[in-house]
Amino acid sequence: MGGKALIQQVLLVDELQQWVEQYRSKASEGKCASYIPALDRTDPNQLGICIIEPTGKMHTAGDWEVPFTMQSISKVISFIAACCYHGIPYVLDRVDVEPTGDAFNSIIRLEMNKPGKPFNPMINAGAITTSSLLPGQTPDHKLRYLYAFFSKITGATPTVNEEVFLSEWENSHRNRALAHYLKDTGYLACEVEDALEVYLTQCSIEVTTEQIALIGLLLALDGYHPMRNEQVLPKDVVRLAKALMLTCGMYDASGKFAANVGLPAKSGVSGGIMTLVPPNRKPHSPFQDGCGIGIFGPSIDGCGNSVAGVSLLKHMAQEWDVTIF
Ligand code: DON
Repeated sequence: MGGKALIQQVLLVDELQQWVEQYRSKASEGKCASYIPALDRTDPNQLGICIIEPTGKMHTAGDWEVPFTMQSISKVISFIAACCYHGIPYVLDRVDVEPTGDAFNSIIRLEMNKPGKPFNPMINAGAITTSSLLPGQTPDHKLRYLYAFFSKITGATPTVNEEVFLSEWENSHRNRALAHYLKDTGYLACEVEDALEVYLTQCSIEVTTEQIALIGLLLALDGYHPMRNEQVLPKDVVRLAKALMLTCGMYDASGKFAANVGLPAKSGVSGGIMTLVPPNRKPHSPFQDGCGIGIFGPSIDGCGNSVAGVSLLKHMAQEWDVTIF
């Protein structure tokens, strides 16, 4: 590494560490998800970030190595996996690509809009439908497909946090209601309890900011894995997933996030945010070749998004001039 590049690298990490400490206190403006009892026991003041560049270079700060469950971030992976198996038209016949402006677990639009097709794969109704579409006759088979898919793209073997899974499984009345409604309207491709088992298990896969930053990087590069020099995901599916992340990934705060940060992103109620910067030609941007970004900050706002994480991203996007617009 040349002297100038080394100085820039040190400055980036210095800035990141400073911003993480600055925004950590934002945790007090939200709280950990309490409807999943196991998540309510998390320390809300954690905040960590990992950024990965196409060269594999990582920039990290704060609690970036702490494992957390993917929750809704997994919806991006199951959607991509279902599209890779069935093709995009088959999946979009069963789940739409329209934002709702409603809460992630809202039921209202399923009945208000006949015939009850879920609006998008990022809300719970759409994600439970997507999970039911994964190949295999049993939850076990569907999950094996998803795990193999996860391993193929991240190079890591997924582990499931059983405590979080059981804690949600026992309290998942709203998701059960959504799944029963989807079964009634014919959108669920398997039995209710089987779809829920797949969906809640994928939500309980444990990751660190490094793994979601890597997935973000692959999305930034339209499915190309730069370190392996291999196209690991189809470009058209990845572009569709990024459009859904931008329009629906932060739920009823997706518009504000697009306006204030301007990057495709997906949040989870455990406090994770997976986002990315596509390659750009901005001369002063530190990530001209693109990057993937993983954030963990478990105190969430009313929309289910990490309070400190969103504030940190807003600050970074402004300071580093990283936006897709
Ligand atoms: O189904 C649920 O409610 C959770 N397992 C996932 C929801 C979620 O992560 C929403 N994100 N912000």
